Amino acid sequence: MRVGKMLAGSAVVALALAALMLGGCSSGGSASNSSGGGSSTEVHIGIGAPLTAGSVAQGQGIQRGVELALAQANDSADVKAAGLKFVGIPGDDQGDPKTGVTIANTFASDRQLIGVVGHLNSGVTIPASKVYNEAKIAMISPAATNPALTLQGLNNVFRVCTIDSVQGPTGADAAFNKFGFKKAVVIDDSTPYGAGLAAAFAKQFVADGGQVVLTEKTSDKDSDFNALVSKIKDANPDLVYYGGVYNAGALLSKQLKNGSVKAPMMGGDGLFDPQYIALAGNADGDLCTSVGLPTDKLPKAQEFQAAYTKMFPGKEIGAYDAYSYDAANVLIGAIVKAAKDKGAAAVTGPAAREEIIANVAATSVDGVTGKIAFDKNGDTTNKAITVYKVEAGKWIAALIPGQ
Ligand code: ALA
Repeated sequence: MRVGKMLAGSAVVALALAALMLGGCSSGGSASNSSGGGSSTEVHIGIGAPLTAGSVAQGQGIQRGVELALAQANDSADVKAAGLKFVGIPGDDQGDPKTGVTIANTFASDRQLIGVVGHLNSGVTIPASKVYNEAKIAMISPAATNPALTLQGLNNVFRVCTIDSVQGPTGADAAFNKFGFKKAVVIDDSTPYGAGLAAAFAKQFVADGGQVVLTEKTSDKDSDFNALVSKIKDANPDLVYYGGVYNAGALLSKQLKNGSVKAPMMGGDGLFDPQYIALAGNADGDLCTSVGLPTDKLPKAQEFQAAYTKMFPGKEIGAYDAYSYDAANVLIGAIVKAAKDKGAAAVTGPAAREEIIANVAATSVDGVTGKIAFDKNGDTTNKAITVYKVEAGKWIAALIPGQ
């Protein structure tokens, strides 16, 4: 953990310990500190993601993306001139809705915390977003793709990833038209994300002329899929579509292959991590969709990649790292503007919160992931989806929008 403050199940205890470790400046504590001779207001940015359970590989990538953005901001003349210093506060939601709400409440009780990048799982992000709304905290998810998140009428809720009513149909069109699959089994893990994505895929796959020969529900905690594998084998599909995340998804893929099911597995962004391949064993032929363009196809990719590797040597850029980096930069821009308008000392106060939310809503910038702007619901206007395929043990972009 790079930042010495991490909130988990026992969030308050963790926060108190971290405050001691850092010498005291924390929730409700001193609102300003001294850095490099000048006095600056310390602003906390919550990083809500699964860090020790659930989609940990993707969650830790989200944390790295935010930390990179905050480190760069703290070095910039603009942030120094605004009299601010940004500190990331990781909150380990463990991919669990109840833990996510605990983290959200702990973030909300920190008077210096005025923005959140998070969360990853839609099932966590949706309930947590209500807590942030009560506290007037701007929240930008880099990864939660269920459409319901931004249909709640909450003005503080934004996301920089596209949604499953785009992702599911894009996957279905690719499966039917490009890869020639005609008979699919459709499974979901019973989470808001998995169920929504699988339903959106199935609807479009049938509209395209495909057949859904079996639909089944599992749980995101399942690890033994052998009974399901027998049913799938009997249904004789040419594709198994799975709405869910990489941990359980990889085990399903592995058990399908062990059970001699020839059909590859396909899913969404929740599968898009090297850990899926590592846990599945031989996942060659499996497919997934994920949000946006491949990182190396983005105009600012080289700059981002170089800075990321310098700060986190040996770490691969994951599905959402560039998205959490962009989300953090949007928050930083909104907060710096409010500090310039109201003064640094007032930026963590209640009066600045509506302005920060309005500044996020008015965003129009070129991020690493492309142009960033939000529609009236807080959804990104960037709708790109890329299809990836596992080849020789690696995710390779197989269908890139606009190419
Ligand atoms: N996009 C996935 C979700 O919304 C990770 O839960």
